[in-house]
Amino acid sequence: MTNKDPKQNQRRQNTLLVRGGTRRSGHKETSEAIFLTSGFVYDSAEEAEARFKGEVEGYLYGRYANPTNTMLEQRLAALEGGGGVCRLAASGMAAVNAALMASVKAGDHIVAGKALFSSCRYIIETLLPKYGVEFTLVTGSNTQEWADAVKPNTKVFFAETPANPTLEVTDIKAISEIAHNAGARLILDNVFATPLLQKPFELGADVVVYSLTKHCDGQGRVLAGAIIGDEKWVTEELDPYLRHTGPAMSPFVAWVVLKGMETLSLRVDRMCDNAARLADLIGSHPAASFVRYPSRDDHPQKALAMSQMKKGGTIIAFEVKGGQEGAFKFLNGLEIVDISNNLGDAKSLATHPATTTHRSLEVAAQLELGVTPGLIRLSVGIEDIDDLLEDVKAALDGAL
Ligand SMILES: Cc1ncc(COP(=O)(O)O)c(C=O)c1O
Repeated sequence: MTNKDPKQNQRRQNTLLVRGGTRRSGHKETSEAIFLTSGFVYDSAEEAEARFKGEVEGYLYGRYANPTNTMLEQRLAALEGGGGVCRLAASGMAAVNAALMASVKAGDHIVAGKALFSSCRYIIETLLPKYGVEFTLVTGSNTQEWADAVKPNTKVFFAETPANPTLEVTDIKAISEIAHNAGARLILDNVFATPLLQKPFELGADVVVYSLTKHCDGQGRVLAGAIIGDEKWVTEELDPYLRHTGPAMSPFVAWVVLKGMETLSLRVDRMCDNAARLADLIGSHPAASFVRYPSRDDHPQKALAMSQMKKGGTIIAFEVKGGQEGAFKFLNGLEIVDISNNLGDAKSLATHPATTTHRSLEVAAQLELGVTPGLIRLSVGIEDIDDLLEDVKAALDGAL
């Protein structure tokens, strides 16, 4: 497995997306090869022993590593910058779970933003406490709350920014400083911003997690996740957890995501441009009581969002007047945009968080997060903007 470019993983972003991590077999294939194998063989018993001892380099078993997966890991690590090392997982949730499990033990304490994807909240609020890990939930946008929540046993800060579904923004630099002063590690879920729009390591994060299911595949095909952190933590804490518990990504899935990465910046650029236009339409429509989009002047944290992100992103949150009835009228009036709970896709997708993604939260907890009965999360795709504007306008008109 070789690559002719000695600076392959130090190229600029758009080159990394297409070529980062690529290694060719002796056949010199153009596209990255899929090594659909669960195991590897050795020429002799001595070689097997030497490989297991780590004296000779080489793959051992699919649960640990695979050449197709290595290509994706290197592409993602190079793209993220900061000299980190990447590991893959079978889904975004497998990645979040592994990053947390590799960072805490019984008796430790986690501080996390309240506005998290509901499965992330389940791990922090329900699962980890069963194993003796305490938590405090804070308002992600209130830096003082993060500082006030620190305890002597705080080991992890976990944040998602912009947060799902309300697009609340957390000051990554400020909370990373608080975490570091407390001897804790900041794990950042960077899904909404994508690896292109926000660079968490530059802002002080220690570990970055992704659901690659979202923008990186971005074409609705596979579930996939990734964790990127410093080499010492990855090899000493994360690798043993992954190897022994086995949330491994299939090499086929790794290949699909490698192909998705090639078009990531083309898709994300178009999605952001389309989202900004749609946010303006929704913001001026009488059926919407408010719209949240990070680069709009009426986003309460526009300045912070734009200091952390290169563009406003691909997701819009807005409230349809008339509560759930108004929101459902809007959703049922859409002809192009699909009703779906996924996001980051080439196809525009609309979600009613209160009855789907955030259904498991008590109503009071939903309202505290801003998940009102009329709230819609719109993940904007790459369709023609005029078709999207017509579709969303007609659905809003119908909700009046
Ligand atoms: C912010 C965020 N993190 C994590 C996940 C989990 O990813 P996956 O569905 O790939 O497990 C999702 C969505 O599902 C998400 O929106």
